[in-house]
Amino acid sequence: MVTCAWPYINYTPHLGTMIGSVLSADVVARYYRLKGDDVVFVSGSDEHGTPIEVEAVRLGISPKKLTDENHAKIVELWKRWGISFDNYTRTESPIHKEFVKSFFTRIYRRGYVFAQDVELPFCRKCDRFLPDRFVQGVCPKCGAEGARGDQCEKCDCLLEPAKLVDPVCAVCGSSPVMRKVKHWYFDLAKFSGGLCKFLEENERLSQNARKFSLNFIGGGLKPRSLTRDNKWGIPAPFPGAEDKTIYVWVEAVLGYVSATIEYFRGRGEEERWKEFWFDGDAKTLYFIGKDNIPFHTIILPALLLASGEGFNLPWSVSSTEFLQFKGESFSKSRRIGIWIDEALELFQADYWRYFLVSTRPESKDTDFSWGVFIERVNSDLNDTLGNFVHRTLTFIGRYFDGRVPDGADLGDRDREVLQSVRELVERVAKELEDCKLQEALRTVVDVSRLGNRYFHERAPWKLIKTDRDEAAKVLYVAVQLVKTLAIVLSPFMPFTAERISALLNLVEDQRRGWEEAVKLLPSNHEIGKAEPLFEKIMVDGEELQVRLEKAKSSTITFEEFLKLDLRVGEIVEAEMVPKSKSLVRLGIDVGGGVVKQAVAGIAGQYELKQLLGLKVAVLANLEPKRIFGLDSEVMILAAEDGGNISILMPDKPVKSGSKIK
Ligand code: MF3
Ligand code: ZN
Repeated sequence: MVTCAWPYINYTPHLGTMIGSVLSADVVARYYRLKGDDVVFVSGSDEHGTPIEVEAVRLGISPKKLTDENHAKIVELWKRWGISFDNYTRTESPIHKEFVKSFFTRIYRRGYVFAQDVELPFCRKCDRFLPDRFVQGVCPKCGAEGARGDQCEKCDCLLEPAKLVDPVCAVCGSSPVMRKVKHWYFDLAKFSGGLCKFLEENERLSQNARKFSLNFIGGGLKPRSLTRDNKWGIPAPFPGAEDKTIYVWVEAVLGYVSATIEYFRGRGEEERWKEFWFDGDAKTLYFIGKDNIPFHTIILPALLLASGEGFNLPWSVSSTEFLQFKGESFSKSRRIGIWIDEALELFQADYWRYFLVSTRPESKDTDFSWGVFIERVNSDLNDTLGNFVHRTLTFIGRYFDGRVPDGADLGDRDREVLQSVRELVERVAKELEDCKLQEALRTVVDVSRLGNRYFHERAPWKLIKTDRDEAAKVLYVAVQLVKTLAIVLSPFMPFTAERISALLNLVEDQRRGWEEAVKLLPSNHEIGKAEPLFEKIMVDGEELQVRLEKAKSSTITFEEFLKLDLRVGEIVEAEMVPKSKSLVRLGIDVGGGVVKQAVAGIAGQYELKQLLGLKVAVLANLEPKRIFGLDSEVMILAAEDGGNISILMPDKPVKSGSKIK
């Protein structure tokens, strides 16, 4: 079972989410598949909870509409990034909701849930309770400002809304009052023993996860609330809690199980999910960012224990530190950082995959840097890896007719190189299994470093003139390294690995299987024509940042789109702009008889009198622009094809002022 944290889909994920969870899990899932293990890789969109609701309130749309749109967009992006999910689902999935209801009913019946009256912050202005991210204040543990009702971003500790110092409503900013309300709680303390045992015995928790979790338990486990007064979410199944929903975190973590159920149900293998969740030899691997630690090492295991069904507890939890941008956390609302859609506008996915894994923040927060990005692409990918593959294939193409040369009677050094490669491949496997992805990728590149060194030492370009047999041996060995790369690169850079496999004419079976990495290509095997794998980046970081800003503005947020006042207007005045050849001054009725002025470059394309009375598409809330001494207050929309301009018009009669949406 390979899983990664379910991203909140209030926005598109950024690179931090990518490396912290999704990409790391993908690399490992791909590796275990290659090794021949039965792998299921699942995750999904985290659709409920206050992060989504707060954003939907801000946009003035329903949470459902927000998550429907973002989910569809994100599914597409995973594909473009080469993420090999077996099932990427969502928490609105009926199977998930059903599973969550029956799960909580079960632990309620087993006596681990109790109801209690509590005082919670309530905003009188918004007329609502302020759970989780609806309330902000000062963290009672570390004193940081802007801590949220459920968790402090500074120290990562779990909080309760009532614990915040100087709380304010996140929507309207007013100070809440305390109000009594009944909620349902999970008796976490009952599992202290089980959790301690789990944490102490589990050797496969990241350092940060173990430390944080033991510390957390050391502070004494308190009951954790399971219900919220929000409408958006999964209805709580406890008697008397009919108007409440389940707290987002405690249901989302169950998604790992429900997504597995959904996956196998879709394949008509109704019962097989159980193999992955109950069999002793099934292993569950979690990839998360450090802010997610307590939910995966405390809450999820406790819930699984509470069910009494014998679920497998996490076998491995790999939690990264943060990827930062100029020393600050990536922040969606403040537009700090790089988003996974705009990243692809600049470079192909494999460049990013390489860069992100090779700088994966495994032991400390790491700053994103264009300089490092350029350096990695140019020196590691281009000069080292790409160069080795290219020179080998080019040489074979030129001097050996595109066929793997004769590899009989290898010398000591040749055999030694093949032996070193076998060792490197073993090392990559070991490092991947230890979730040391950064090191594993470095070892992969070491294969091509070794190749380049060997090529250089043996100088086949000289040998070919004096001793063709010797040159043949060098290229025989070199092309074996290229084949090794085709396999060991594939978890990290699947698109590039496919290209190398294609260049080598590997058949399907030779591409699938970790052991293929050290199986030799036979002499005489025909290979394809060499072509460069990568391209050097010839501009500096500043230029890349400028390009990124452009990509950012080319993808507008949904919120920005909503700001556009697009509507149908009727042209009621049309005259030439004095002294201009191409500009026409138009008066446009944008609804209710309000006439606004547009200055449009359409003279020569339309007769003035032909324009009068036309209903056209206009952008009505553009900042006025002075053109030829006239204020252009609205813009008419037109298509341009070559020199031809065609004004956009509704194809049925509609009233002036009708919204275009
Ligand atoms: N949505 C959470 C976040 O982005 C992660 C949820 S992980 C899950 O931080 F396991 F709960 F789904
Ligand atoms: Zn409020």
